[in-house]
Amino acid sequence: MTKTSNQMWGGRFASGPDAIMEAINASIGFDKRLAAQDIAGSRAHAAMLAAQGIVTDKDAEAIREGLLTILSEIEGGKFEFSTALEDIHMNVEARLRDLIGAPAGRLHTARSRNDQVAVDFRLWVRDQCDAADQALVALMQALLGQAEAGADWVMPGFTHLQTAQPVTWGHHMLAYVEMFARDRSRFADARRRMNESPLGAAALAGTSFPIDRHATAKVLGFDRPTANSLDSVSDRDFALEFLAASSICAMHLSRFAEELVIWSSAQFRFVAMSDRWSTGSSIMPQKRNPDAAELIRAKIGRIFGANVALMTVMKGLPLTYSKDMQEDKEQVFDAADSLMLALAAMTGMVGDMTANRPNLKAAASSGFSTATDLADWLVRELNLPFRDAHHVTGSLVAVAEGKGCDLPDLTLEDMQAVHAGIRADVFDVLGVENSVASRMSYGGTAPVRVREQIARWKEALK
Ligand code: ARG
Repeated sequence: MTKTSNQMWGGRFASGPDAIMEAINASIGFDKRLAAQDIAGSRAHAAMLAAQGIVTDKDAEAIREGLLTILSEIEGGKFEFSTALEDIHMNVEARLRDLIGAPAGRLHTARSRNDQVAVDFRLWVRDQCDAADQALVALMQALLGQAEAGADWVMPGFTHLQTAQPVTWGHHMLAYVEMFARDRSRFADARRRMNESPLGAAALAGTSFPIDRHATAKVLGFDRPTANSLDSVSDRDFALEFLAASSICAMHLSRFAEELVIWSSAQFRFVAMSDRWSTGSSIMPQKRNPDAAELIRAKIGRIFGANVALMTVMKGLPLTYSKDMQEDKEQVFDAADSLMLALAAMTGMVGDMTANRPNLKAAASSGFSTATDLADWLVRELNLPFRDAHHVTGSLVAVAEGKGCDLPDLTLEDMQAVHAGIRADVFDVLGVENSVASRMSYGGTAPVRVREQIARWKEALK
């Protein structure tokens, strides 16, 4: 069974494609998401063609009106997408021909689908960078809210997930603010680099028509046109940079999600998730599962996967365009959707969760968390070399462990049996509040330092 040849490019073809060829070739199922960008690019191109005298003003006006009609048809869900027309570019152009007739055929002058798709996709990814930026600001604000409420709440700080030293809740929240701020700057950086217009590169070599690429670049909000036509149609770095930035951001989200899963467990009880962000079990009535956190943790798989998939698609392609590159879009769409959902869910969870201050403090006070403070005291007050102080403290930890108590519960006699010089004022440094208050170094966990950072971030995010 053969169909008639393609109306866009079928001049030399006697028959249409096999049904399976059509299935593997078509991208309209997913690239319809580029409709608004495609129409914006076409409008800019048509206006430029008229300004340069390449098409008449009358034709350009008909094209403009036709494109606006198509946009409203698509937005209103009234547009009929056709797989036979392959992709968004040809679906729009075919509909334009239905609507305005012959002038539609002039739109593709000095243009190719190769530069067209490069423009559309850049515009789409650029919007996603902006959306990620906004979502990250919202998340940082939610974290700042938590940090401010508990700037001086003591909790255990961990290394190897073993109690290390006491820190403050505010300090821990601000650690993520720092990470998400770097994520923002990665998206901003990627956006800045991608903001060049490939429109007018045409198929690969540029065009003999007297086009004005600077004008179309400006109308579409690009900083300038791309400088090499071959690069313009074959570059997908911009999508890869978005995926790389997304992957790092998703990794941060996943680490935090993992902490929330641990913290909300019955064994930790550091935080309570609100009902809005938990689910129950169909069999175990006591359960309150942190599903949103778990799913955020899992979403990273899709985002990393997209990054690897597109790197793999691109890595062996000779210049310039190859149809392989059509596989870029689904990866990026899925990664962007996953990232935005994960960011929104994390923001909601953080805004709603309640830290359990007494449990945080109790946990901070156990596990010999102030052993380093004790060693530091021995250095400062008794002038012991740090290595010796470390050894003495280790012996005291062993004594406490033997007695089944913590360091502040030891008697002065217990201590002096290990090192005769130890005095009663050592107990001042064994309390967790004093411990955190003493960590005044820049970037340290002391509440005064934490409050300074909160103030700095609040100002920065205004
Ligand atoms: N649908 C195609 C894509 O996504 C558009 C570009 C087609 N170009 C071509 N020379 N067949 O990449």
